[in-house]
Amino acid sequence: MDWRVPLADLYFGPEEEAAVSAVIRSGWLSMGGVTQAFEAEFAEFVNAKHALAVTNATAALHLACLACGLGPGDEVILPSLTFVASANAVRYTGATPVFADIESQDVLNISPAAIEAAITERTRAVMVVHYAGYACKMPAINQVAKAHHLAVIEDAAHAVGASLEARSLGTWGDIGCFSFFANKNMTTAEGGMLVTDDDELAEKMRILRSHGMTALTWDRHHGHASTYDVVDLGYNYRIDELRAAIGRVQLQKVHEGNRRREERVALYRRLLSEQAPQITLPFTHAPGQSSYHLMPILLPNGADKFAFMASMKARGIQTSWHYPPVHTFEAYRQAYQSNPTPLPMTEASAAREVTLPLYPTMTEEQVNWVVKAILAQG
Ligand SMILES: Cc1ncc(COP(=O)(O)O)c(C=O)c1O
Repeated sequence: MDWRVPLADLYFGPEEEAAVSAVIRSGWLSMGGVTQAFEAEFAEFVNAKHALAVTNATAALHLACLACGLGPGDEVILPSLTFVASANAVRYTGATPVFADIESQDVLNISPAAIEAAITERTRAVMVVHYAGYACKMPAINQVAKAHHLAVIEDAAHAVGASLEARSLGTWGDIGCFSFFANKNMTTAEGGMLVTDDDELAEKMRILRSHGMTALTWDRHHGHASTYDVVDLGYNYRIDELRAAIGRVQLQKVHEGNRRREERVALYRRLLSEQAPQITLPFTHAPGQSSYHLMPILLPNGADKFAFMASMKARGIQTSWHYPPVHTFEAYRQAYQSNPTPLPMTEASAAREVTLPLYPTMTEEQVNWVVKAILAQG
């Protein structure tokens, strides 16, 4: 469909194309110098000791769960208001996701108090999700985790370039997981990154990323290793040089892209609060620096979300829903019906939530069209 205003759009130029062409000309396509440079630059960008590039954030979350030693019988506390990949990654290890409620219909992030209430003797980890790029209450969450000896995994899929107290999101917990999927603030088409300050966790994830092997093709090519051992049941979660090359270029642009997003969000907030006070705008007093990945709004209580989205579509405006709560999906309903904690805030917010278009190249005029389309619905 040819949208008048799409939900998201690329922030690409000839420099991404040139970077990909240079890799093709170089003759080395996977896990080489470009990937190493991308990892070093990303580590510096978030100020983490280690950064490991992977195929996507789902793989990053899976490796993070494995590195934290999660397995059958363990419980991991996470929000249900997230993309299903967060919870799936927990289940890949055999561990059980336990959903905790979000703070409120203003702060759509997991509540530190709800985390504490969901802890049992089986709890091993907390997985936070910085919804739309807005920071979870990391000091409080880390305090709870520390008191109960829990690992903290950050799903920072939305949060490239975001921070809290000047510390990058993704570096507050033990391991941070970023997504470079096509609609993210920086993209490599498919791609992801793990960050950690812990040498042991980094080494575990490095080995698990590539079949559990102790040495890689790149090391052998460079004469650093002539053979290898396999020391764990690993995966092929490697990124390739083409994606890493795009990532290096995108990383240079992500702050500017986020700044542009912030301007569009400010305009949306001003116009909607003046002209459509029936619409709730979450994250009114969000702490830290957001990456403004998404522009969520909450429709009035009882409004028909699907009729609203259809009417926006009829005007050429693409909207979305972040998210149908994970515990309501068929693959989760049966097994997780018994989730011990009720999730009233998650359910109430999800029922009302619609995501408006937001991307760096969006024009002021396009923001105005979206607002006019909302107003036209009365
Ligand atoms: C919150 C969240 N977690 C995880 C993922 C998974 O990312 P990827 O598509 O890179 O596997 C996404 C991607 O949409 C996401 O939004």
